[in-house]
Amino acid sequence: ATDLAGRHFLKELDFTAEEFLGLVALAAELKAAKRAGTEVQRLRGRNVALIFEKSSTRTRCAFEVAAADQGASTTYIDPAGSHIGKKESARDTARVLGRMFDAIEFRGDAQETVETLAANAGVPVYNGLTDDWHPTQMLADVLTVTEHSDKPLGEVAFAYLGDARFNMGNSYLVTGALLGMDVRIVAPRAYWPAEEIVAQAREAAGASGARITLTESVEEGVAGADFVATDVWVSMGEPKEIWAERIKALAPYAVTMDVLRATGNPRVKFLHCLPAFHDLGTQVGRDIHEQYGLTELEVTDEVFESPHSVVFDEAENRMHTIKAVMVATLGDRQGIKGAE
Ligand code: CP
Ligand code: NVA
Repeated sequence: ATDLAGRHFLKELDFTAEEFLGLVALAAELKAAKRAGTEVQRLRGRNVALIFEKSSTRTRCAFEVAAADQGASTTYIDPAGSHIGKKESARDTARVLGRMFDAIEFRGDAQETVETLAANAGVPVYNGLTDDWHPTQMLADVLTVTEHSDKPLGEVAFAYLGDARFNMGNSYLVTGALLGMDVRIVAPRAYWPAEEIVAQAREAAGASGARITLTESVEEGVAGADFVATDVWVSMGEPKEIWAERIKALAPYAVTMDVLRATGNPRVKFLHCLPAFHDLGTQVGRDIHEQYGLTELEVTDEVFESPHSVVFDEAENRMHTIKAVMVATLGDRQGIKGAE
């Protein structure tokens, strides 16, 4: 196994493909062990701080359950519950929590904040989502891809439709590039990842043999795809006034049954990091319905509920992969395959 002891987990391109896939493989091992009732606790006595400046269901629960399974404790710090960024700088917070905890998870707006925590904490820091990247989500998605495809990753075609300028679009592009996949970003040009991120992806693709496509054409983008993914059109922290503009620009990129058919692949799978707006089951959904008359946004309910959809495997895999990150960076090395 790759030795990641003491490492941070801040963004995908901090890792080699081998390291990244080592984490995915460890997650698969931990998942199998949990199911078999043979999980070995490698985090006994560890304490992990979970700082959430933005809300969360999956990421928070994944860290808490993974830590509990492994014998570690967690302290959840909610968006209103700490001084970070208000009365106390990220740098000072890092130096305080680093004296008490063995690792720190951070979710918030700025990538710079999680980088500042990492530079000052003296313990591993994990990115639980920033505006720029969602790297723990990428581990879960790659594990889900490997579980639902019999092709090697280098032959997997992966299409992401929607707002690609934010965490999910950025992360899919660089992760696909790192791992040598055929990765397609399908969105209006104004919603493509920033040039700097595309350049980083192209560089990674040069080394991995990945194919990168950025296209405005849904037909071209999804042709032959093994996986089709999307994300919400308005992300946490964005103003709700922006919905009208987003709906107008992104409606042609909603994942419908026609889009899945256009892949030409009857076994195509659908991914979504969740939460998703596909029915009236949320307040946002009801507000959108009232204002715009829509009941579905980035994905139709038909796709979401279809056998193509593997979104709940993906959600479960958040826990196994986050566990792998903590075990690999913080764990007692004994009993890990290949560790000294
Ligand atoms: N996918 C994801 O990060 O979900 P949460 O916002 O619920 O953590
Ligand atoms: N792009 C979304 C992802 C949520 C997991 C957001 O940032 O809100």
